[in-house]
Amino acid sequence: MSESDQTGPDSLQRAAKRNLWLHFTRMSAYRDADVPVIVRGSGEYVYDQRGKRYLDGLAGLFVSQIGHGRAEVAQAGARQAAELAYFPLWSYAHPRAIELAERLADLAPGDLNRVFFTTSGSEAVESAWKLAKQYFAATGQPGRYKVLSRAIAYHGTSMGALAITGLPDIKAPFEPLPPGGVRVPNTNFYRAPGFVADDWTAFGRWAADEIERAILREGPESVAAVFLEPVQNSGGCFPPPPGYFARVREICDRYGVLLVSDEVICAFGRLGHYFGSQRYGYQPDIITFAKGVTSGYAPLGGMLVSDRLIEPFTEGPRTFLHGVTFAGHPVSAAVALANLDVFEKEDLLGNVRANEGAFRATLERLTDLPIVGEVRGDGYFYGIELVKDKATRLTFDDDESERLLRGFLSPALFDAGLICRADDRGDPVIQLAPPLTCTQAHFDEMEQILRAVLSQAWSRI
Ligand SMILES: Cc1ncc(COP(=O)(O)O)c(C=O)c1O
Repeated sequence: MSESDQTGPDSLQRAAKRNLWLHFTRMSAYRDADVPVIVRGSGEYVYDQRGKRYLDGLAGLFVSQIGHGRAEVAQAGARQAAELAYFPLWSYAHPRAIELAERLADLAPGDLNRVFFTTSGSEAVESAWKLAKQYFAATGQPGRYKVLSRAIAYHGTSMGALAITGLPDIKAPFEPLPPGGVRVPNTNFYRAPGFVADDWTAFGRWAADEIERAILREGPESVAAVFLEPVQNSGGCFPPPPGYFARVREICDRYGVLLVSDEVICAFGRLGHYFGSQRYGYQPDIITFAKGVTSGYAPLGGMLVSDRLIEPFTEGPRTFLHGVTFAGHPVSAAVALANLDVFEKEDLLGNVRANEGAFRATLERLTDLPIVGEVRGDGYFYGIELVKDKATRLTFDDDESERLLRGFLSPALFDAGLICRADDRGDPVIQLAPPLTCTQAHFDEMEQILRAVLSQAWSRI
């Protein structure tokens, strides 16, 4: 039963607690505390139902690249809804999907000329795995079905994407998952094995060669694809060491394995380029994307696919046996085009490239705090690893991490007016990925809030 005809903060709170189920959220945390209700956004800030302002240091959820409250993007969606609100991409096309596909293909590296739209990142990842399997079946290699991905990496939550995700805790309740997910090491140099701990390049070579070893162990004839983010998000922003992706590309070519660049976070300016693979100079066979393609003004995801992969589907009766009703939704496609117009008009990629050094330097000021082990990342995408002992890099045990992150840091940072993520899916980290419009004043605000809250956290340990 709904009581939402009563408006105002208190009735919203009551209805939120009674009727809404938050994602990946311990609902018991809100039995005695208010559910944070964000009611509007403007630029780099959002406001809650009581009018309090927060700096959106996570762009919502790595989404709001152009910032909040852009009327021209909202209006593009409204105009499209009035003209043609919906038509499927099953057998038909509509102008906005065609225009967006062409524009994305122009922006993408190399021959990634074909766009298959979805509504989300999980669906994009799921679609890439299905395409890899059907492509290999169609080209006489039906035994190739396995997918390699990195430890602690997040690639989504639908059953297929979850099989690729490398976070054991969020997989356990849903086992058995589709077979074929194989884990390889990630590029967390801060926690590198001793024999490569002093040499970033050697560490990268080792981590890439572990992919080759896994392919050989599994049998190359059984491996379809390797899924990698340009900068791995989960675990706290692991950029690739020099030469890592060049080596991975070589290995994939040697064994006929597809390289899927999962850019659900790293595309659309997060790393100062339209695609993260462009920043690090490698050519994927498939790019998966979502989030920043619309800056969240409507939901959209998809994959960009190389010419070679669509070839078996261009002649005769063969069909890629996959689709979803709302993929490439006209309103979302119109919004994505308007979003890309803002990128161009305001040179947002230029803004990220010009300011990323200052952003990093501002966050690195925090390394004078005893709790800050490392600041790492690239572009407008940083992780701050928290440690119990800087000299030994000792991390927090599960209980400490629970008290530190959920018990203190997450609510304290929010109360202090900063939206960011305190995450312990790997070792405890704070993650920042603000709108691409941010400048020094925003970096300073983030640093000041983090300094105050992290200092308090240290005094409570
Ligand atoms: C790298 C990566 N892949 C896939 C996904 C899943 O995207 P979605 O939540 O849109 O399904 C995410 C979500 O954060 C992601 O970061």
